[in-house]
Amino acid sequence: MAVRECIVGLEWGDEGKAKIVDERIAHAKRVNGNKRVIFIRFQGGPNAGHTIYIPTETGLKKFVAHAAPCGIASNTDLGIGPSVAFDPEKFVKEVDEAKATFGDYTGRIMISERTGVLLDYHRVLDMYQEQRRSHKVGTTASGIGPFYMCNAERTTRITFADYVSDKFPDRLREVLDWFKPQLESMGKNIDDYCQELITIHNPIRKNLKDFKERLEYRLQEYIKGGHHIIIEGAQGTYLDVDMGTIPDQTSSHLLAQDAFSGLGLSRRDFKIYGVEKVYPTRVGNGPMPTLAEELQEVGANSGEKGATTGRVRRVGYPDWVLIKRAVLLNDVDGIYITRVDNAQDRNWKVCTQYKIGDCLTKEIPLDLSNAKPIYDAKTYEWHLFNAPKDLSDPEKVDKQLRPLRSNIIQAGFDNLPEGLLKYIKKHNNYVGRPIIGISIGPARGELVSV
Ligand code: IMP
Ligand code: MG
Repeated sequence: MAVRECIVGLEWGDEGKAKIVDERIAHAKRVNGNKRVIFIRFQGGPNAGHTIYIPTETGLKKFVAHAAPCGIASNTDLGIGPSVAFDPEKFVKEVDEAKATFGDYTGRIMISERTGVLLDYHRVLDMYQEQRRSHKVGTTASGIGPFYMCNAERTTRITFADYVSDKFPDRLREVLDWFKPQLESMGKNIDDYCQELITIHNPIRKNLKDFKERLEYRLQEYIKGGHHIIIEGAQGTYLDVDMGTIPDQTSSHLLAQDAFSGLGLSRRDFKIYGVEKVYPTRVGNGPMPTLAEELQEVGANSGEKGATTGRVRRVGYPDWVLIKRAVLLNDVDGIYITRVDNAQDRNWKVCTQYKIGDCLTKEIPLDLSNAKPIYDAKTYEWHLFNAPKDLSDPEKVDKQLRPLRSNIIQAGFDNLPEGLLKYIKKHNNYVGRPIIGISIGPARGELVSV
């Protein structure tokens, strides 16, 4: 049986998706190693940061991807869908860095001819826009908002097909002229800037030329051939452009069901898995009902910093109202819960409804800023293993904790601490879809399956 899965975040991003997709790639190879695995990114851009820790004999090897799908760390084939904000400069850099360790990519990268390219002027425009906003979004300044504005505007979208063709210099000039007033106000001289970008991109364009594909047709060949397909989401449900916390969100459609339309695949052929961090976190601006001052130390001890911007992530109590809606919107078949080790030895309360004005509700309103969390009377606590308080650097504690984590994995789901098992049972009842995996460490393999 081929593995066909789409994996998305159920909170505000940084749920630990990269770790879970890494596990699922390994799973696909175990199920049938004779088939290829293609790993596809379907939205977002280098605003995402995907961190993977690979256990080796001498310690953990850290790998971070932004523009490249993180399957790059497992030597899979790679696909870039038409809705991605594709940053060629960062992509080539990440692929080159990975090449030494992870092999040759000739013939194994497919970029949709439709995909728009994200270039430096998108970043300049991102800063221009954020400066002018009275309500700051807290963007990662990767150019994402202006990029999707160009896609929607239509003529200012430079497709990957344009990018690798001889049309590129003229297309670039047209678009820079379109944004001339904004770019000049940010100190750019259009003639010089255009030349500068052409010079930077000429070698990259040559390098990427062979990766242009009519992706929707190529993916059908993977389906027919019985190959594995894993689709990775970036960011998380509450940053979705339509279903997130408007206007504090990113600019792409990032629900699982959006993946299928853009890639020409059918939801019927796929399992959808959601990733949930026990405690939600948020970087950038915008409301987070269960945010609590006393939890910020959990974030600090767990190294909760943005992989792209280095900003500190705000931490909140588990919010099942939020998760239940995310499960509905994504049509999630099963949930992977992460950072269960970081959450040990603390009493967790759980938000099961909100109070808005005088009304109680279990629905997420458009404006979350006035929603007060109402916590269930029951609280949960578990202890997995004895560990130092500061787990912010996984590489430092790996030697000490790897054997302890391994014992828990060996013992299996039924032998997890009682408090955790109760938490999972109650969570399943409330949310309506089951937790199917419990991540108890940052490294590949540190996962208890249900
Ligand atoms: P932008 O997508 O860079 O414009 O940022 C918009 C909002 O989404 C900001 O609050 C960012 O911090 C947040 N954001 C964007 N990408 C990610 C991500 O991959 N993880 C978490 N937050 C993100
Ligand atoms: Mg991230």
